[in-house]
Amino acid sequence: MTGVRSTTPFVTGTGRAHGKLILLGEHTVVYGAPAIAFPIPEFRVDAVARVRQGGPDLDGPRDYRFSCGDPDDVESAESGPRVAVDEALRRWQRSGDVIDVVLSCDIPPARGLGSSAACACAAVRATAALYRRPIDQQSLYDIVQCGEHIAHGRASGVDTSAALAAGPIWFQAGRTRPIVVGTDAALVIADTGMAAATKRAVADVRATLLRDPLRARRLLDRATAVTTAAAEDLALGRATALGRRLVEFQLLLDELGVSTPELDRLITAAHDAGALGAKLTGGGRGGCIIALADSPYSAMTLSEHLRAAGAAATWTVPIRRPL
Ligand code: MEV
Repeated sequence: MTGVRSTTPFVTGTGRAHGKLILLGEHTVVYGAPAIAFPIPEFRVDAVARVRQGGPDLDGPRDYRFSCGDPDDVESAESGPRVAVDEALRRWQRSGDVIDVVLSCDIPPARGLGSSAACACAAVRATAALYRRPIDQQSLYDIVQCGEHIAHGRASGVDTSAALAAGPIWFQAGRTRPIVVGTDAALVIADTGMAAATKRAVADVRATLLRDPLRARRLLDRATAVTTAAAEDLALGRATALGRRLVEFQLLLDELGVSTPELDRLITAAHDAGALGAKLTGGGRGGCIIALADSPYSAMTLSEHLRAAGAAATWTVPIRRPL
């Protein structure tokens, strides 16, 4: 989604993207196991890009902003969205240009909900619109991944793919395909209120897997089996079985050392409140859990319980959406 808006005397480009949640497969997806992810259109980010020519600043809400080609902006130099736009400018032979990018983001940052990939997608789309460059999905994916590798240390591509997807996806080894959802169960996302430490978690999981290759193989095979079974449950509308897959995957993530007492507390609260299953989502070490409710109505009750149990915020998302 991009647009070009001509303003006098400046020209700005705009771009939009959305966040995601990972149903199953985080971390193991980095090593070639599959993941299932959902775009969350309600978690929206809008970007505006402009070539700096002096004059007034970009106006509008500014949750986050950065400038490419401005030696004074050292702060953003290592951020995923900035790295992605730098890469786009390099590919388009515009590296000398000073570009200001302003993002207005509904996605809670550092919560495992895909804010870095979505901000990068929106920022690159806005920059492409600024230069009136059509950008295909594959080029956008490749450019955003340059930023994601900085954000995650090593990025599988699942966040970028979900930020670009229109519906639920199966992601494995850089390839994405849409998946069928045959249930009206709903997911409640509950925030621990603590920032996720994705880069650190990815590095630690890597160290754990490298230490014991046999155990690593077994874990990755288990992850693949659980996610494969979950895709079938999703397609056939077996919500109870799907809930069990979330529980199985959480055990695995716990073994990988990415859960925390705060995440565990919310997961227990979700089970106590009748969730069909619950697990952390995203990089872990903070961030959010997801809990499966058998209907949007039970999701409301579950949500209230999770807030009473200390969740800083909750969101309910349907897993099947009208086409
Ligand atoms: C982060 O949202 C998901 C991870 O699996 C990292 C990645 O796949 O790039 C932890």
